Amino acid sequence: MAVSIHHLQQWKQNGRPIVALTAWDFLIAQVLDRAGIDVILVGDSLAMVALGYDTTLPLTLDEILHHAKAVSRGVSQALVVCDLPFLSYQESPQQALQVAGRILKESGVKAVKIEGGYPAMAETVQFLTQRGIPVMGHVGLTPQSVHQFGGFRQQGRDETSAESILAEAIALEAAGAFAVVLEHIPDTLAASITQKLNIPTIGIGAGEGCDGQILVTADVLGLSEWRPKFAKPYTDLRQAITDAVQAFSQAVRSHDSISSGTD
Ligand code: KIV
Repeated sequence: MAVSIHHLQQWKQNGRPIVALTAWDFLIAQVLDRAGIDVILVGDSLAMVALGYDTTLPLTLDEILHHAKAVSRGVSQALVVCDLPFLSYQESPQQALQVAGRILKESGVKAVKIEGGYPAMAETVQFLTQRGIPVMGHVGLTPQSVHQFGGFRQQGRDETSAESILAEAIALEAAGAFAVVLEHIPDTLAASITQKLNIPTIGIGAGEGCDGQILVTADVLGLSEWRPKFAKPYTDLRQAITDAVQAFSQAVRSHDSISSGTD
């Protein structure tokens, strides 16, 4: 069954948790899709996990488009969502429409995600959704604002900041967002936002009280050299790959190669 934004809404009503992960290429996307992941995000975190940048800020539209096309080719069931990269949408709703439209047309993803809420981004979300482009919101620790936050720090710790994150999430829902990512905020705040919204919340480092969970796949697989404390690895692929390539290396060096030219 191909997942649509309407399934996510139904699942919130039924209490069925939404499972989301990021992907940056064809192979990873194909594995996630066949494993039954509901939502695959071509997150701008690929700037860090696939391209080696320190933050998500340098990522360009052409770079994310290239990856979004590869991910789309690997997916047949999951809902694929693509981030709009830093400074490709903040200037005006019209700029966001051009960029989001180009991503949907050229890559085949079904929706876009933008960071930030009230007031500027809520206006942009409304502009896009009224023109038929599904938008996922993202509040809390929005990594494109890392320098404004002074690092990748938890947000919403004091009352003012918590109230403003709640207001942003409510504004995004009113603007037509179909879901909202809550990143690195206190569990109690995430749970209270989840209860107040009719659209699903997808948490990352935001506790169990969200309607779904997302993580960066490189962290789940234990591939990243560094990962946030909240991102639990479910395997150690970094070690598994090291073991495999060292075994291959040793086989080649000892003339014990298994790659035979004879059929
Ligand atoms: O870019 C990304 O991977 C994200 C998720 C972590 C939510 O935005």
